[in-house]
Amino acid sequence: MRSACLFLLLVTACWALPFRQSGFLDFMMEDDPGSGVTEVPEGRGLPDVDLGPDCPFMCQCHLRVIQCSDLGLKKVPEKIPKDTSLLDLQNNKITEIKENDFKDLQGLQTLILVNNKITTIHPKAFSSLGKLQRLYLSKNLLKDVPVNMPKSLQELRIHENEIVKIKKASFQGMSNVIVMELGSNPLKSAGVEAAAFADLKKVSYIRIADTNITEIPKGLPSSLSELHLDGNKITKVTSDRLKGLKNLAKLGLSYNEISSVENGSLANVPHLRELHLDNNALTSVPPGLPDHKYIQVVYLHSNKIAAVGTEDFCPPNFNTKKAMYSGISLFSNPVPYWEVQPITFRCVFDRTAIQLGNYRKKSRRSS
Ligand SMILES: *[C@@H]1O[C@H](CO)[C@@H](O)[C@H](O)[C@H]1NC(C)=O
Ligand SMILES: *[C@@H]1O[C@H](CO)[C@@H](O)[C@H](O)[C@H]1NC(C)=O
Repeated sequence: MRSACLFLLLVTACWALPFRQSGFLDFMMEDDPGSGVTEVPEGRGLPDVDLGPDCPFMCQCHLRVIQCSDLGLKKVPEKIPKDTSLLDLQNNKITEIKENDFKDLQGLQTLILVNNKITTIHPKAFSSLGKLQRLYLSKNLLKDVPVNMPKSLQELRIHENEIVKIKKASFQGMSNVIVMELGSNPLKSAGVEAAAFADLKKVSYIRIADTNITEIPKGLPSSLSELHLDGNKITKVTSDRLKGLKNLAKLGLSYNEISSVENGSLANVPHLRELHLDNNALTSVPPGLPDHKYIQVVYLHSNKIAAVGTEDFCPPNFNTKKAMYSGISLFSNPVPYWEVQPITFRCVFDRTAIQLGNYRKKSRRSS
């Protein structure tokens, strides 16, 4: 998968695909070459399965990878080998994580608990997992983010649970987290306490989609390069919420209720390349695009934009240095597209990058 992506990178730009995060199984195998897990084919059966005495009943064990998925397990199996680096318990019926379930697994790097029925996790359940990098808890019944997660954690996936609030204390000291997936939880209104993410000094990807939060969270870390907040109930973009996000390259705000983008918002994210604001309630093109150096993709389709001005996208001078737009969508807006003057897009060199009329776009951006 990774190499497929690298290969694609040569042909087209892999990063440019719409906000699709690779599956967690792609992430799993990317480091730790010594473990030999790279030979494991995606998700399915393992080659040369060793059902040795150290392998829990019914599980499949290969080197330090323990596969116990899809077994109808109601609890975490006993006698998991101490040197396990990856433990896959997805698609079972585990309801609870007890204090000692992972007690001896000091070398565990990846723990997959996706799609169980977990409602409670003992506060000390993760306390011996000093090397844990990836914790996948999606599709469970958790009402809170677990406490005392290992500080070594780089990736937390906990979407599709029952979490109603992200508390400030939830991620305290978690300075190694890079990827955070919190989508499809019943977070309401503010949903995320101010500065809840403040300690995530290395975080690069945060996704809080389909949760019904009404605001962009306060105090996001400056390391952030992708922020996906699609499918919520956010009503406006204010510049203070984007302040200091100097590394932000992708901002996803599709399918919200945004009616305004405050002047200065885009100036606060000087390295933004992709802005998705489609399916909102905007009545005009967001301000600041002509001055923006790196913006390439701006989705504005399915809004309430009734007029597009000649200065909305491009700088006044033709010779101003400006990164090329590779995708602008404006279809499904009340503006009659024949009224948009061609000069509006004078800085767009690839005309196929512009989706104006009320037709569906045929292909994604191509560069
Ligand atoms: C968001 O709100 C809608 C109703 O407005 C509701 O149907 C949906 O379940 C909510 N989503 C979540 C994740 O709570
Ligand atoms: C937006 O801000 C810029 C620079 O701060 C300023 O020149 C411009 O007049 C402002 N526009 C509006 C509509 O307030």
